[in-house]
Amino acid sequence: MPDQNNSKTTIDEFARDVKYGLGRKRKRLDPKYFYDKAGSELFESICIQPEYYLTRTEYKIILKNIGELVNYFDNQNVSIIELGSGSSKKTKIILKYFLEKQEDKLHYFPIDVSYEMLFNSNKKLLNDFPNITSHPISSDYFDGIKQANEYIHANGNVPNKKLVLFFGSSLGNFEPKDALNFLRSIRKGLAPNDSFLIGFDLVKKKEVLEAAYNDDNGITAQFNLNILRRINSELDGDFDLESFKHFAYFNEYKSRIEMHLVSKIKQNVLIGKINKSFNFLKNETIHTENSYKYTLEDIENFAKKSKMKVEKNFLDDNKWFSLSLLVPN
Ligand code: TRP
Repeated sequence: MPDQNNSKTTIDEFARDVKYGLGRKRKRLDPKYFYDKAGSELFESICIQPEYYLTRTEYKIILKNIGELVNYFDNQNVSIIELGSGSSKKTKIILKYFLEKQEDKLHYFPIDVSYEMLFNSNKKLLNDFPNITSHPISSDYFDGIKQANEYIHANGNVPNKKLVLFFGSSLGNFEPKDALNFLRSIRKGLAPNDSFLIGFDLVKKKEVLEAAYNDDNGITAQFNLNILRRINSELDGDFDLESFKHFAYFNEYKSRIEMHLVSKIKQNVLIGKINKSFNFLKNETIHTENSYKYTLEDIENFAKKSKMKVEKNFLDDNKWFSLSLLVPN
């Protein structure tokens, strides 16, 4: 998931953020630093782990409900905007169905801060769908929607009804307050007849949740540890990766999976680039990421507070995940 505020982080910012995060009483690192090339690849690999039900479940929900979803738009033509670079199987089903039924050209606007991801995905996508008219926008999501709106309004032949896609329960990686602000900003880019299709991972048994973030192949662990590897290579750190371990658990009170890196021993770690060493107690953790889990009531509240309403929650049979169609209210 791309970070939305810091598209072009420099080494200096990385150094500053690490210094601040590790200097806190409760050590933290900003999850946006997970996603270098290795991190992005590990993340792709997480999505296909057997315990990681999210991607697969959301995909199945789309597959099962795509007919109904397309029917929501009657025979009106739409333009599709995706938050994220979009070459996923999920995007492809959506595009395939809208392409089939739409008389006008299908205009697709994938938005991603990472220029590289965006254009690589786009190339692949156009291979499979030579008939879509794609307008990749390398930008943060809000500005991206604005740019798509401008394009749509400046070109009379582009359908001006929009469907915005946001898959992966990525909203869950924001703090609740930020999640609401995010939805409010998205809402500002929607006209009364537009729709927003967004994935929410739902609260479920702790065992299922925790297994998803502790896959047996250890990919999530590698992904988490990758942030230390980056500090070593980019900031001249001397983290011994063997002496930290991945830890993820469901914090029921806050309704979130918390990811941490736990120091197995008492140790000092020197980070050359910031000229500072940090002490770790045995079992002290660095908190790296949260993934909030929601109830259907939470979704209602999010919608209400961002001046939208829930048109429909598409659920899987287990009720593990909701793909929610929100519309302006
Ligand atoms: N939003 C997804 C989730 O929370 C994907 C994700 C983001 C993720 N960061 C992660 C998955 C870290 C595993 C580990 O599950």
